[in-house]
Amino acid sequence: MSPSVSCLCLHGRSTSLVLELPPGEAPIWRYWGPGLKGQVPHALRDARPLPSFMLDFDQPLTLVPSFGVGWFGQSALLAHRQGQAFAQAFTQCEAHWEQPEQAVRVVLTDPVAQIELTVYLRMDPHSDVLTMRSALRNLGQSPLDVQWLASGTLLLPGQVVGVRSYAGQHNHEFLLQTDRLSRSMWRRESRRGRTSHDCFPGAVVTTEGSTDSSGLVYGAHLAWSGNHQQTIEWLHDAQYQWQLGEWLAPGEGLLAAGATLQTPELVASCSMQGLNGLAANFHAELRSRLKWPGGQMRPRPVHLNTWEGFYFDVYPEKVKALATAAAGVGVERFVLDDGWFHGRHHDRAALGDWWPDETKFPQGLGDLVAHVNDLGMEFGLWFEPEMINPDSDLYRAHPDWALQLAGRPLITARNQLVLDISRPEVSDYLFGKIDALLSAQPIRYIKWDHNRDLTTAGLHDGTAGYRAQVHAAYALFDRIRKAHPEVEIESCSGGGGRIDFAVLRHTHRVWTSDCIDAMSRVAIQRGFLQFFPPEIMGAHVGSARAHTTGRTQSMAFRAAVALPGHLGVELDARILSEADAAELKACIQMYKKLRDHLHHGQVWLGSLADGIVWQAHGEADANGNAADVLLLVYRTQPTHHRYTPRLPLPMLDADAQYRIHQLLPEGVVLPTGAHNTAPFFDALNTADGVVIDGGWLRHSGLPLPRMQAETAFIVGMKRV
Ligand code: GLA
Repeated sequence: MSPSVSCLCLHGRSTSLVLELPPGEAPIWRYWGPGLKGQVPHALRDARPLPSFMLDFDQPLTLVPSFGVGWFGQSALLAHRQGQAFAQAFTQCEAHWEQPEQAVRVVLTDPVAQIELTVYLRMDPHSDVLTMRSALRNLGQSPLDVQWLASGTLLLPGQVVGVRSYAGQHNHEFLLQTDRLSRSMWRRESRRGRTSHDCFPGAVVTTEGSTDSSGLVYGAHLAWSGNHQQTIEWLHDAQYQWQLGEWLAPGEGLLAAGATLQTPELVASCSMQGLNGLAANFHAELRSRLKWPGGQMRPRPVHLNTWEGFYFDVYPEKVKALATAAAGVGVERFVLDDGWFHGRHHDRAALGDWWPDETKFPQGLGDLVAHVNDLGMEFGLWFEPEMINPDSDLYRAHPDWALQLAGRPLITARNQLVLDISRPEVSDYLFGKIDALLSAQPIRYIKWDHNRDLTTAGLHDGTAGYRAQVHAAYALFDRIRKAHPEVEIESCSGGGGRIDFAVLRHTHRVWTSDCIDAMSRVAIQRGFLQFFPPEIMGAHVGSARAHTTGRTQSMAFRAAVALPGHLGVELDARILSEADAAELKACIQMYKKLRDHLHHGQVWLGSLADGIVWQAHGEADANGNAADVLLLVYRTQPTHHRYTPRLPLPMLDADAQYRIHQLLPEGVVLPTGAHNTAPFFDALNTADGVVIDGGWLRHSGLPLPRMQAETAFIVGMKRV
């Protein structure tokens, strides 16, 4: 037995990660899970008898499993030099602590393949979030062709059983997909050149018996807005490895002598408090990444977005009247969506010509911006900088600026092509146009769209440009933000096609989905909240009949579903009935009162059988209990029960008492007996509310009213 085991241990608040450091090898994965203290008891190989008919030298999973010298599973690296050096083994390893027990840089060298791989690991002591990334340097004299370089390889324990990932499509992002883990490989890939609607780059891995609020779960996400790949693979010791990284198009990983390939970041965490504990960890990490103008998040202003109200028909008189109506119901930021720029009257032309349309705005946008500002609202503007329509002045002048491949047809999507923004003259042009508008008017917000997948994404020299495009987009965001630090940016991509932790280093809100049907949104938003906090979740009240689904919902339900996110309105507020306008105004007032509470602290999600889902927002104390909770209960389906089941609330403190009030928009008074005459619900609407034991609420549950389908019940619960 080895006398003492040399290890790297990283500790979070309540989780730990352990890598063993055998001499002359890459670090061996030993552990990732609930916090561990004390000595590592033995070297892994000392307690791992060799199986029959195997290599005589045991090869466990390392931090960078690599092909060709004894590892048979998925490799963290696939590379060669014109067919040579196809096998790699790291025989030199140095670990440099950047912060003891929290951040370490592991430098691995393979002198034979002539490569150096640096893996950066950081465990956040507060959020339990592990970030990893890798950098591969070509130490040789000839080019190295890298086909795959994982951002990181994670070890999952043998007790994991399932994986929750997100599929989807335009109008339905974050479609939950659950798979059972087995000896077959689990793999998801996206080659669409953006984060994508249909394959969110991340997943959650569950253990037997884990629930929304208890049990061990693991999560990982690739912070990257381009192509990606993840695999979970069963290992012969009944554990699993999980790799995430950028999917490189052929040639994109070609490294010249001396050059370095940097991966995107991998963001991972595990929690013993189930899916909600994991979500809290990711929310904390994301919040630490957001760079707000002025250094701090302001209360999230209520938006009005012109898209579903007017589409391309944004003539100034109408738009001004809409702004007036919006201000009347309490809107704080008015966003002029598509349709405002030169020649843009439909989606077949004009992308690229970023100056005000002469027929709509002959004097420019100044008058409209002033009108909006005079009403006390900020002004925001829509752009889709990375795109170009063949029918545009820009394309006529520079047809070569579009990504394209010689000898292949130009493939349009929504009638548009993608600009090669990695070319300095292209990004200079875009910066110049956007900068001119932002400099001329007090425009404080950009909705930045990206409405198609990448195809024939060839750069000027005919090589693949997917990766270059993502880096160039990040650089353009930064350049604009540097020139206009007061401006906030929303990441949109046909709704939620570009929602990830990397784009959110540069932006402040995402457009969650083009579908604002409140019923569809319930599911979409719940998927979103697994990784992202509510304050960046664009959530709009649309018109009664949803444009994307044709379903109709009440104002109260539409508002209740949008309420916990970053609230907006997306309808023609000029033509609302008096009653609807009053109700919308009251809901907006309610949001303004609640937004500080909703947008800090933790979010707990849960469901009851019988068509009820719920979410609660509040700060958790050191024991994970919440003192002051806002609870939103949605009934999505008609009941199949004669009596509504009670709702147990696991985040409440069993040793405390809670005073409970129903929360209603101002002016909305429930008629006595509205809840089928049960006095409990009438009492919730009195000044004293109802006081109940936390233990009772936690274990037996809160009584719920009889609710019709597509209605919400909102209560505040304060520890007394
Ligand atoms: C995308 C966005 C919409 C809207 C339109 C405008 O579909 O997701 O919100 O901005 O583009 O063309």
